Amino acid sequence: MSVIRKAIIPVAGFGTRFLPVTKSIPKEMIPIIDKPTIQYIIEEAVESGITDILLVTSKYKKSIEDYFDNFKELESVLESSKNYEMLDMIKNISNMVNITFVRQKEQKGLGHAIYQGKTFVGNEPFCVLLGDDIVYNRDKPCLKQLIECYEEYGGSVLGVQEVKHEDVSKYGIVDGNKISENIYRVNNLIEKPSMEEAPTNIAILGRYVISCKIFEHLEKENYGKNGEIQLTDSITNLISTEEVYAYKFQGTRYDIGDKVGYLKATIDYSLRDDKIKHIIKDYLGEKLK
Ligand code: UTP
Repeated sequence: MSVIRKAIIPVAGFGTRFLPVTKSIPKEMIPIIDKPTIQYIIEEAVESGITDILLVTSKYKKSIEDYFDNFKELESVLESSKNYEMLDMIKNISNMVNITFVRQKEQKGLGHAIYQGKTFVGNEPFCVLLGDDIVYNRDKPCLKQLIECYEEYGGSVLGVQEVKHEDVSKYGIVDGNKISENIYRVNNLIEKPSMEEAPTNIAILGRYVISCKIFEHLEKENYGKNGEIQLTDSITNLISTEEVYAYKFQGTRYDIGDKVGYLKATIDYSLRDDKIKHIIKDYLGEKLK
């Protein structure tokens, strides 16, 4: 079974849930404390063994490309002021992994964004990490858990968790048979169903390992829910010829494209940061008295 090296991170969406700031700042560049969210996601990919990343961007997202480029002028300022810690950090951002970019010229949906990676992927299985989903797991990154599941079972693997019944209409929902503690064999997927339509509350949450055969389905360009080309629809079509599994990953997931999800992430990450956690804890304690 081939080793998984490549990941696609789509970041071309408009981010309408986070307007007005997303009018000129990509949501992926909004920081959790002092690091843009896209960096947390790329670090998860690197820690999971990914060596090549394709960012699917749009013409409004140039700041993401700049962020991962070299910044020689800044490096020489930090060098002459002997701020070596900061210098290493800045250099590492542009050197940690091979990143290439492709533009999605029209925002036709997630499936269409992933289709832009057809040439990049070639004939290998690959990963997808959504650019607005952060998953925290101190011991084993979410994507690594999915890759290990892929190595054991083959097929494609969808990262899932149970969500509240009233939230099923925000997600792709899995209908499947449980084959072990955390793994389901997927029979069907339904994109953003109503509570009545949803067969389960098991939701796909922004992490995938996908067979390259998906591109044969994506190229048919069928528009689905909300008039968008949905990745979920093509994965459903894949099930007729290949196994698809859903893996219940361990970790706390934050939807940073949503205001509440973003604020939860900011609070939790500040409480995990050794340099500021005591101050924040005291502050929150005072506020909640
Ligand atoms: P979302 O629906 O969560 O992101 O898409 P969005 O469209 O940017 O946000 P809202 O709903 O308007 O607030 C999930 C992921 O797919 C990407 C988004 O950037 C996000 O990472 N995406 C979505 C694309 O790259 N292209 C698209 O056409 C649609």
